[in-house]
Amino acid sequence: MGTAGIMLDPTRRNAEIERFEDELRARIVGQERAVGQLARTYQIYLAGIAAPGRPLANLLLLGPTGSGKTRLVEAAADVLFGDERAVLKIDCAEFQHSHEISKLIGSPPGYLGHRETHPFITQEALDRFHTDKVKLSLVLFDEIEKASDSLWQLLLGVLDKATLTLGDNSRVDFSRCLILMTSNLGSQEMAKLVEGGLGFAGREDDNGAELDQKIYRAASEAARRKFSPEFMNRIDRVIVFRRLERCQLEQVLDIELRRVQDRILRCSGEQQFVFQCTRSARDFLIEEGTDAKFGARHLKRVIERHLVYPIASLLSTAQIQLGDVVTVDLDSASGKLLFSKRLRRVFVTSEIEEERAFAAVGSASSSLSSVG
Ligand SMILES: Nc1ncnc2c1ncn2[C@@H]1O[C@H](COP(=O)(O)OP(=O)(O)OP(=O)(O)O)[C@@H](O)[C@H]1O
Ligand SMILES: [Mg+2]
Repeated sequence: MGTAGIMLDPTRRNAEIERFEDELRARIVGQERAVGQLARTYQIYLAGIAAPGRPLANLLLLGPTGSGKTRLVEAAADVLFGDERAVLKIDCAEFQHSHEISKLIGSPPGYLGHRETHPFITQEALDRFHTDKVKLSLVLFDEIEKASDSLWQLLLGVLDKATLTLGDNSRVDFSRCLILMTSNLGSQEMAKLVEGGLGFAGREDDNGAELDQKIYRAASEAARRKFSPEFMNRIDRVIVFRRLERCQLEQVLDIELRRVQDRILRCSGEQQFVFQCTRSARDFLIEEGTDAKFGARHLKRVIERHLVYPIASLLSTAQIQLGDVVTVDLDSASGKLLFSKRLRRVFVTSEIEEERAFAAVGSASSSLSSVG
């Protein structure tokens, strides 16, 4: 054995990493691995020991639709820069034809239209969100399997050498970037495994870890079948997102309702109010906005349609005033949400009952207890 010394603890984390991880976890339900991996990557950046001449990391996010892959990147931007749009996002579906690449990198000088095609990826675009504290860029290649061959060629250079040559021959440096790529590849195989892995009681059996490994393997094999070895060799980490279970979808709903509440509290001073959803209103939103196949894909749209639009008209017709507490319930006959507000100063015979109902609502939608 070596000489005695002071034992060091590499599992200890500094406050900044803890904050980063906690705040991500408050935004992303489940997907512990993904959150942990992002935190470890950020730690490398903070420690200043990123490998030179490469992006900070190239991460491939696989998993079913509506499981939070894109959301994770937005959430990281929100935590790092206070703005979930602080991401350079390339929707690969928009670049399925080789000629569309000029939209990304501009066309070479002398080409027809050279002047007009301002490249989407430029150094300024990459560095735009840097702050004094964080000089890191998040770059998202969304739905990577849809990219054209020429986009692949560009991408390989970026992943490997952290540089991209634009149409006018100038270079963009990606060495202070975290590159995230998302894909649904393998999600069908994963779904089959999950269904097969459910015990008779409809719950995962004790072999959760084994199932996890199988799912990981199925997803990464699907990726290997589709993507070239050159590409896979440049990936630092494949992160597999799991399909969200019902109780997790409920937590996602909580988060989304809290975001609506934040929007309301940010609106003009005289109209700020608090809303609470009853159990049945919440169930309704879950049923409409989520399902086993599409995860939470449609949840936001459903919340906009059934909650935000009506709230907007209640506000614009001055039916809600500052400080009101609005209850959102389900009218099961019409299948629509009902909005009512609490009459604070009027004596209500069933006031005690009402208090109880509110307490129940409050605990069901813990989301809003912090407000008001
Ligand atoms: N794990 C999660 N935590 C929090 N919110 C989530 C999660 N998964 C999904 N959502 C919600 O659902 C919406 C859709 O999820 P997201 O766009 O991240 O799906 P995705 O995994 O990228 O799917 P796709 O493969 O179809 O692009 C998010 O904007 C968010 O509101
Ligand atoms: Mg996505």
